[in-house]
Amino acid sequence: MSPQFPTHAVSIDLQDRSYSIAIGAHLIGNPDTFAGLPKASAALVVTNTTVAPLYASALQNALAPHYPAVHSVVLPDGEEFKTWQTLNLIFDALLEHHCDRKTVLFALGGGVVGDMTGFAAASYMRGVPFVQVPTTLLAQVDSSVGGKTGINHPLGKNMVGAFYQPRRVVCDLSSLQTLPAREVSAGLAEIIKYGPIADMAFLDWLEGHLGALRTHDLSALAHAVRRSCEIKAHVVAQDEREGGLRAILNFGHTFGHAIEAGLGYGHWLHGEAVGCGMVMAAHLSQRLGLVDADFVTRLTCLIQAAGLPTLGPVLDAQDNAGRYLELMRVDKKAEGGDIRFVLIDGPGKACVRGAPDALVRQVIDACCSAPA
Ligand code: NAD
Ligand code: GLY
Repeated sequence: MSPQFPTHAVSIDLQDRSYSIAIGAHLIGNPDTFAGLPKASAALVVTNTTVAPLYASALQNALAPHYPAVHSVVLPDGEEFKTWQTLNLIFDALLEHHCDRKTVLFALGGGVVGDMTGFAAASYMRGVPFVQVPTTLLAQVDSSVGGKTGINHPLGKNMVGAFYQPRRVVCDLSSLQTLPAREVSAGLAEIIKYGPIADMAFLDWLEGHLGALRTHDLSALAHAVRRSCEIKAHVVAQDEREGGLRAILNFGHTFGHAIEAGLGYGHWLHGEAVGCGMVMAAHLSQRLGLVDADFVTRLTCLIQAAGLPTLGPVLDAQDNAGRYLELMRVDKKAEGGDIRFVLIDGPGKACVRGAPDALVRQVIDACCSAPA
């Protein structure tokens, strides 16, 4: 990998909360990457047991010229640890190190570390600056951008949190080289979603470059991360706090969150649940007359080629569809107990609307594996 690989910047325009997303190679260990951030007497690197041995010392060394003290806290790894208890470890570290309200937090890891660090930054002393340094494909193309932070509740995914924007996002493509294949596939789910909701030309491009992305080709990754961030930045700039439009970024997530919560967090990866959820949402779109069967087949083939599941798990042997419906009523988009789905309203365009339970039941029955 060439150290000369160009760094791109994508801007996210949110008035006084605007920031840039740097996308390039070898960024984590380079002190220049972190120039110009808010000044403070201390920085706290938040990471986890898997990422710490890979990248924490490089980041700490790169931060050393900028901050008199660079502390770190290493969290347990896994979606099942996206909880109050783990969040409290960040507050413990901040208080033990006597961190003041200028302390800058650095989230080094995937979406779980990023979401929790952002929530800790939003609440410690009522708000301290934070920087996202995402090291998974999923986090680089989605979770590190846009300011959604939070933790899970046993009854629902990401149910407790805050909108709180980072000061910068640093997507170091080199860090993806150590990412396991299953995690690359999970990231591809959130990349694929941008095609049907916003940019069919990007979907065409993905169909031709899936192999390169799955084998960590740097140029292909750079394009996929950049285009994904551009689309997300454009949507978030128009609707930062999800009053309406931003909900389209949750294509596949209503079914997906039900899968994650129903199986227990950590069994299916978030991206796997979203991939399968997109297939279900596409089928629902078709049954509502919004897209044709060819579109559903095309999307399903791409999701399958990305190494993602396209058949949902059975969550309840007695009443599987009923269990999905029950879980989906806890979704943040639900209004008065009525589930609202992100659906495809013609290729490249999404809408958010309800659907009759009977139709949703048909989709779930058609899209889940037969019980064992
Ligand atoms: P993750 O954070 O669990 O990371 C996946 C795995 O990869 C973990 O085991 C992690 O330790 C490991 N890992 C991270 N970087 C690595 C690297 N470079 N090399 C080797 N291993 C590495 O999962 P994720 O897929 O990154 O994120 C999923 C989370 O993001 C979910 O909790 C989801 O709800 C959240 N999310 C949030 C938003 C948002 O807008 N805030 C959007 C999408 C998803
Ligand atoms: N991942 C959905 C959003 O950021 O709104």
